[in-house]
Amino acid sequence: MENKCITIKKLYINYSLNNKLRNIRRFFQNCLSERYSLVQSYKTNKSTHGKIIDKKNKAYFFKILPLRESKSELKNYKKLQILYPLPKLNRYIELNDSGILLYDYEDIVEKEGGLLIDYLNEDKFDIRILRRILKIYKNSFKFHHALKDKYTSDKFFSRRVKPRLKEGILQDRRISEILDYQIKINGKIFTQNTREIIEETIDYFNKPRRELCFLSQGDPEPINLSTQPLFFDFETAGLNPVISEFAIFLWGFFMEEAYYAPKYNKNYYLSRKGFLEGLGKNKPIILVDKDIKNKTLNITFEYFISRSRKKIILCYFRDFFKKIADKEEIILLKKFRYFLVMRILTTLDPKKYSLEDIYSTLAFLHLFCNSRITKTLNMRKNILDMIKN
Ligand SMILES: Nc1ncnc2c1ncn2[C@@H]1O[C@H](COP(=O)(O)OP(=O)(O)O)[C@@H](O)[C@H]1O
Ligand SMILES: [Mg+2]
Repeated sequence: MENKCITIKKLYINYSLNNKLRNIRRFFQNCLSERYSLVQSYKTNKSTHGKIIDKKNKAYFFKILPLRESKSELKNYKKLQILYPLPKLNRYIELNDSGILLYDYEDIVEKEGGLLIDYLNEDKFDIRILRRILKIYKNSFKFHHALKDKYTSDKFFSRRVKPRLKEGILQDRRISEILDYQIKINGKIFTQNTREIIEETIDYFNKPRRELCFLSQGDPEPINLSTQPLFFDFETAGLNPVISEFAIFLWGFFMEEAYYAPKYNKNYYLSRKGFLEGLGKNKPIILVDKDIKNKTLNITFEYFISRSRKKIILCYFRDFFKKIADKEEIILLKKFRYFLVMRILTTLDPKKYSLEDIYSTLAFLHLFCNSRITKTLNMRKNILDMIKN
């Protein structure tokens, strides 16, 4: 294996940004030996990103994170670069209150069709792009895999159980009052109610467990993948479960980044031309008849997923996940359900959702994750049913 490790220049500076744009601008202008000008910047709920250029017009992507997160991104970048194509990380600058990562700016991100997210609403997609990504996964899995009880992407799973499930969804009045309702979708009755699915999931993540892990990027959302391919966002890179990668990928491509995330987390998507305007057609159509007397939710539900999304999810399922799951089918598919429940319910904060979006999220939860007849075999069937729809 070729050793691609590069040295990353580290700097420690006694300075606080206080997450303020004017401090950030001043910092890049005056506090480093090279002077950078700020071209653009945008804030998200946990970080500030953007583009700066140096005197020779070379562009860099900067990412400012709280100290702990920036240290994880640095550490995990170093692991991932051994097997994955990544933008070059030039510098890591540690300040009093945050860390700054300076990457080479990848121009492909600005091109239409440069990121996988640009294909969510399209019918055409060159599947060879995904095959190249899956080849990297297969290579990585072959290189090393192991059963682990601790892994980096657990940040999205067991560490969200308390704040987002127990103290989030279970406490939300609009959700808590229908937790025990029987669910009926398009005439089909589901055996488990929402509370049972959630409690089973909490139970799963509260117990000691080990998952089959391989080196992965950890957050394979369509906006974090470019077509070359290149991977972005390394905070949760490392040894991660095969099932967590697929759960994140599946929900991200299926609905989350096509509808819920751009609707409730706009800033990330402002640069994708026409994307926010196209959200309407991905909005699930839902009619709910709440039968209080019989504690039943009668849901009429319809949703659309583009041809490219189907193609992408099917290809991932068949070319990578199924190949590994076939060997360990019972265990992987059964556990997979809990990871998908966490993604559907806790990737974003449903407390901020409109009532309609809460109901459509619950409908997806039941269509994907309700155990119906037998848990194991149905998980595979559920996925196929949902994307062939
Ligand atoms: N080196 C880079 N050059 C250009 N764009 C980038 C670069 N790194 C990331 N991006 C874009 O910026 C987005 C946000 O960066 P990311 O590292 O994913 O931050 P976050 O942790 O907030 O999701 C990415 O999804 C990607 O589209
Ligand atoms: Mg990201």
